[in-house]
Amino acid sequence: MALRYQRLYVNIDHVATVRQARRGSEPDPVTAALLCEQHGADGITAHLREDRRHIQDDDIHRLAAQVTTLLNLECATTDDMLTLAETLRPAQVTLVPERREEITTEGGLDVARHEAMLGAAVARLRAAGIRSSLFIAPDPDAVRRSHALGADAIELHTGQYAHACDATGVLLDPRPLQALRDAAALGASLGIAVHAGHGLSVQNVAPVAAIPDIEELNIGHAIVGRAIFVGLAHAVREIRAAMDAARTTGGR
Ligand code: PXP
Repeated sequence: MALRYQRLYVNIDHVATVRQARRGSEPDPVTAALLCEQHGADGITAHLREDRRHIQDDDIHRLAAQVTTLLNLECATTDDMLTLAETLRPAQVTLVPERREEITTEGGLDVARHEAMLGAAVARLRAAGIRSSLFIAPDPDAVRRSHALGADAIELHTGQYAHACDATGVLLDPRPLQALRDAAALGASLGIAVHAGHGLSVQNVAPVAAIPDIEELNIGHAIVGRAIFVGLAHAVREIRAAMDAARTTGGR
């Protein structure tokens, strides 16, 4: 039996990375977002980093005004970012840990350590009518704590899983996939929505897309990278098709 539909949110940060290489106006991440929507994205994700290395403030304002699906603003848990979210009212905010020296978001939130700060942020977002999601490692304690804080969703970090796959998507170590399955099942049993993302690609997405309780995937780098060879529309359609096939066949 086919599993229920799983949403694809396309992260367009790396369109802005290419633009920022020349500090010009092309390629425009907002134009890319609208194209992704036409070819199967259920939502658009953009990470406004504190160092503004890719997405800029103006991009976020334009995305909030022009996205026709749902905007998922990824950001650090700072007063500035929460104030911006309260002003722009994206459909969803995903809170992520952020370190300036990292190449990309390397780990999940340390929910135990930042419980008070995250709880206050979740409450602020809820008061503004914004859905909150916490980006966490597939760890049962982090899942339980996120639920206890009242977050609407968790996004499970799939980086370890992606690292356990070779370039063709063959899984060399089954443990990270099992951790995702267990964390997703725990989240669902608690009643918190479960998302996942990081490092997913056409080659490795199937086993994660086939986890029944994961209702949304956030995928960026692999889509933008693949778009260089096949175009953005094709790259979105291709990953959408891989997700749909995995939901039908169970990822085999
Ligand atoms: N989800 C979160 C919370 C992220 O920080 C990122 C990377 O910005 C992604 C998903 C997408 O990861 P990737 O670009 O590797 O697909």
